[in-house]
Amino acid sequence: MKDNVILTGFMGTGKTSLGKVLASKLGRPFVDIDRKIEVEQKLSIPKIFEQFGEEHFRELERAAVRELSERRGLVIATGGGTVKDAENLRLLKNSGVVICLTCSPEEILSRTQRRGERPVLDGGGSERLETIKRLLAERKEFYDRADYHVDTTNWSPLQIIDDICKHLRQFRS
Ligand code: S3P
Repeated sequence: MKDNVILTGFMGTGKTSLGKVLASKLGRPFVDIDRKIEVEQKLSIPKIFEQFGEEHFRELERAAVRELSERRGLVIATGGGTVKDAENLRLLKNSGVVICLTCSPEEILSRTQRRGERPVLDGGGSERLETIKRLLAERKEFYDRADYHVDTTNWSPLQIIDDICKHLRQFRS
C-alpha cells in the first residue's frame, strides 16, 4: 500500500488527532498541512490570516498540496478548507485515498469553541453555529467527492481508526 492516505473534512472533525494515530498504526510518516505551513512560515495560521489575508494562506496551502501530492506513503491531514479548491482535491485524489471525516454542526461548534484558533469561524460573531452550517453547505459538494466518509460525531477514536483501516484494506484488495 504505497499511496497516500488523506484525511479531510471540516474543522473539528479530528483530522489531526486521528491522523497521528492512523499514521502510527500504519507505520507511516504523518504530515499535517496546517502545521507544515506554520513551521515553514514561522507563523501560526491565525497570524498568517491576520497579517497577509486568507488568499495568501490559500496560496501557501496550494503549494503544500502540490508538494505533498508528489510524494507517496504518507498519512496527510488537510485543513478544513483545502479541498474546496478543485485542483487541490484533484491532486490529492490522484495521490491516494481521500477519507472525509464528518460531524454534526452542533458537535463541531462545541469542539471549535475557542475563539482565535479558527480564523474563518471568528468573523461570524455570535452566530457561530450558523457560520458552521453555511460553510458546511458551501463545501458539501467537495467533501462529497472523497472516496470514503466516516461520521465522527458519536464514535470513539478507536472505532473511527478501526473503520478507516477496514476500509483501506477493502480499497486495496
Ligand atoms: C480552515 C481550517 C483550518 C485552517 C484554516 C482554514 C478552513 O484547519 O486550515 O484556519 O477554511 O476550514 P482545521 O480544519 O485543521 O482547523
